[in-house]
Amino acid sequence: MLFKELILKKRLGKELTKNEINWFISNLTSNHLSEGQIASLAMAICLKGMTFEERVQLTLAMKNSGKTLSWDLPGPIIDKHSTGGVGDTVSLILAPVLAACGAYVPMISGRGLGHTGGTLDKFDSIPGYNTSPNEALLRRVVSKVGCAIIGQTNELAPADKRLYAIRDVTGTVESIDLITASILSKKLAAGLEGLVIDVKFGNGAFMQDFNEASNLAKSLVTVSNESGCKTTALVTDMNQPLSQSIGNSLEVLAAIDILKGSSKDYRLLEISKSLGVSILCSSNICKNKKEAQSLISSVLSSGKAAEKFSQMVGELGGAKDFFEKPKNYLTPSNIQKNICCKKSGYVKKINTKNLGNILILLGGGRQKVEDDIDFSVGMKLLIELGTYVEKNQPICTLYARDQESFNIAEKEIIESFEIGESEENFNKKMIVEHFE
Ligand code: URA
Repeated sequence: MLFKELILKKRLGKELTKNEINWFISNLTSNHLSEGQIASLAMAICLKGMTFEERVQLTLAMKNSGKTLSWDLPGPIIDKHSTGGVGDTVSLILAPVLAACGAYVPMISGRGLGHTGGTLDKFDSIPGYNTSPNEALLRRVVSKVGCAIIGQTNELAPADKRLYAIRDVTGTVESIDLITASILSKKLAAGLEGLVIDVKFGNGAFMQDFNEASNLAKSLVTVSNESGCKTTALVTDMNQPLSQSIGNSLEVLAAIDILKGSSKDYRLLEISKSLGVSILCSSNICKNKKEAQSLISSVLSSGKAAEKFSQMVGELGGAKDFFEKPKNYLTPSNIQKNICCKKSGYVKKINTKNLGNILILLGGGRQKVEDDIDFSVGMKLLIELGTYVEKNQPICTLYARDQESFNIAEKEIIESFEIGESEENFNKKMIVEHFE
């Protein structure tokens, strides 16, 4: 078979067979295809789309392109995934909560992508925490503690690694077919039995449009279920940051506050709980929503979830008392100052993507792949959509490494909040759709 004929077939909008898809993926990982050829097929898929059968085949071929894990543990192997947002600290809360509920969570996470934060970068802010343990350590921590949050290894779904890197620079990321196969190949390779996916929409998400996000959620749920992993998805609002805290160390502290029960970050808590309820029911740990809600509340209030977080950090190389005294270990930023509003009125709109980009400007994210991250920088928001603010009232505490970056970020932050004269009726519903 000539690869150019396969590209042509998809360019004409025809369906690829299972053998053709398998052949593409095996040649992709054995480096027999040039970047140009891979990018051309990715572009043809973006433009012409795939049938449901093709999507499933692509996902399975990518999953099987490397090692797949299997587990023999006395509880369900489950996980959560988010399509990416700003101030999205849910994984840090939910993994230990689910472990405390009796599940096992081998959570393979990513670094920041575009303006969105990455779970792995947040864990890298914890001194000593090993985000790339070998398989033996991963297995030990998952079986002993119940959860381990780590980065993708070279062995799991290597086809995605190459294809994703090429898509990233060839304008072929935004395809429901390719995103579905990319996300699920990694999750399925980790040997999951159950998965809940938080599909974000709004001005801080990759899919700004609700209908697009909803189609992606449907695709992820149907393909994953067809591939043998019980999956549900919530479509959730990202028209403002999920947590009040944005920035790696600040988000670790925000998650710890929730696990300690001392947080007012109610949106972060609500989404974390709702995702937890969905997967506790779908993986049959709980019989119904009510039982799942009360189990989550009890592992939070008893400190059982907090203990799991603390044990996970300790087992993966962090200090044993990190959870109790995180501020003893996290480096504070050089500058911490409030930013004030320039006029009175109601918060009408928050440019969430811009807040994610400001974190990158502050040094808390990467502008180039090889950039180091300053974990200490970020912002803590003091207002949300609909809040009434007086002129000169503080709207945010900004954590910066120097005065120059503080000044740049201050201007950008003020511009990210649209203040209007009249009060608006916001739809406060954070979870807009639930796919099972
Ligand atoms: N996240 C992934 O892992 N893959 C995509 O294609 C998009 C987001």
